[in-house]
Amino acid sequence: MSERVSFGSRMGAVLAAAGSAVGLGNVWRFPYETGNHGGAAFILVYLGCVFVFGLPIMIAEFTIGRRSKACTGGAYETLVPGTHWRWVGYLGVLTGFLILGYYSVVSGWTLEYIWQALSGGFSGKAPVDYVTMFQDFSQHPFRPLLWLLAVLLITHFIVVKGVKDGIEKSSKVMMPLLFIIIVLLAICSMTLPGAEKGLEFLLYPDFSKVTPDVFLGAMGQAFFSLSLGMGCLSTYASYFGKKTNLGQTAMSVGIIDTFVAVLSGLIIFPAAFSVGIQPDAGPSLIFITLPNVFQEAFSGVPFLACVCSVAFYVLLALASITSTISLHEVSTAFLHEKFNFTRSRAAVLVTSGSLVIGVVSSWALGIWKSFTICGLNLFDALDFLTAKIMLPLGGMFAAVFVGWMLDRSIVKGEVTNYGMLKSSYYPLYIFILRFVAPIGIVLIFVNELGLLG
Ligand code: TRP
Repeated sequence: MSERVSFGSRMGAVLAAAGSAVGLGNVWRFPYETGNHGGAAFILVYLGCVFVFGLPIMIAEFTIGRRSKACTGGAYETLVPGTHWRWVGYLGVLTGFLILGYYSVVSGWTLEYIWQALSGGFSGKAPVDYVTMFQDFSQHPFRPLLWLLAVLLITHFIVVKGVKDGIEKSSKVMMPLLFIIIVLLAICSMTLPGAEKGLEFLLYPDFSKVTPDVFLGAMGQAFFSLSLGMGCLSTYASYFGKKTNLGQTAMSVGIIDTFVAVLSGLIIFPAAFSVGIQPDAGPSLIFITLPNVFQEAFSGVPFLACVCSVAFYVLLALASITSTISLHEVSTAFLHEKFNFTRSRAAVLVTSGSLVIGVVSSWALGIWKSFTICGLNLFDALDFLTAKIMLPLGGMFAAVFVGWMLDRSIVKGEVTNYGMLKSSYYPLYIFILRFVAPIGIVLIFVNELGLLG
């Protein structure tokens, strides 16, 4: 059997996994979920979800991936052949494929906005014009599709280049660039006049706002943001080397991801409050409020406004493309490993399939807006179904699998690199996987469905 490809260095592995985790989930979804759920209290619940459920489940996914040396679609089959557990792997592949479809649409918007920022499309507009601008664009039948295609093609070529030369190399360039841009923008935003109100919104919790919905929202957000619950990181872990420290890698990814989410909040809320914009605009928050914010904040210096807007949308584009790569890789690796397609043929199938889902999601916001399921248009329905149901479910299965099914010597072996590392957190980790995570996830579901009364 030929040796499985792997990341070239441990740093490369961390950056690739962090590249998957850091994305629109941090810069686009986190701020609007925080805005919709009342600010700081949501963030506290979110942090709880990241550290209580997120990190242990991430280590569990790493264990599944590195031990099986297979993508998630084949990992369970490899570890416990002939059982129904393989369906958990398939569920993951399906979930990732669906997310890739609608995620690429939003990723495409970021490219349009880079273009608009560069070509002066934001200058000389009244606040309401940004609303119209966003609506006209996102509801347009064709224009967003062009950018969707661009995102999918970029992703496609990086994935086809392979794990080391495509995924790892691109992450090593894009992630540091992203950190620089985000720190500069946060500083910029916090020094605007009136920024304190935004900081207050982010830092002072109002516990009267904590409803059951906040828990489901925070849990969904934690899974989404950490790329958990569908075997994305488990697929990446199948490319980890023997020496990679799983616990430490999970910790680094968790910290980087949380750091970027909070910094995004520090860019968006102070800036929004500073020009008197409400934080609960929903998914369109960063596309409507921010161009306006930059224009107003730097109204005397149009050049700075332009630089900030370009930087912000470049940041978003970079963050989202390292994530689409990871989503794409899950399906591509699955087709490659399961059906023996070459990687490039597998990638063609994935790219074409996600293009179809992308087109449907994009039209769901425009020409097919009136078509709804349970009151949600198809785009929002896809987001709800994947982030709030399929990911927590997949994460719960991963926890139960590693906590209860997998041989103890393997579970312990993977976190200690078979005796090479100490792992004092091991008992706590197992306890969380066995009890806290499954029970917690079920309770949050039950609560949300109103069964607890
Ligand atoms: N975590 C990414 C973000 O925050 C999105 C993402 C990539 C993802 N891979 C995933 C979400 C797997 C859920 C599952 O934008």
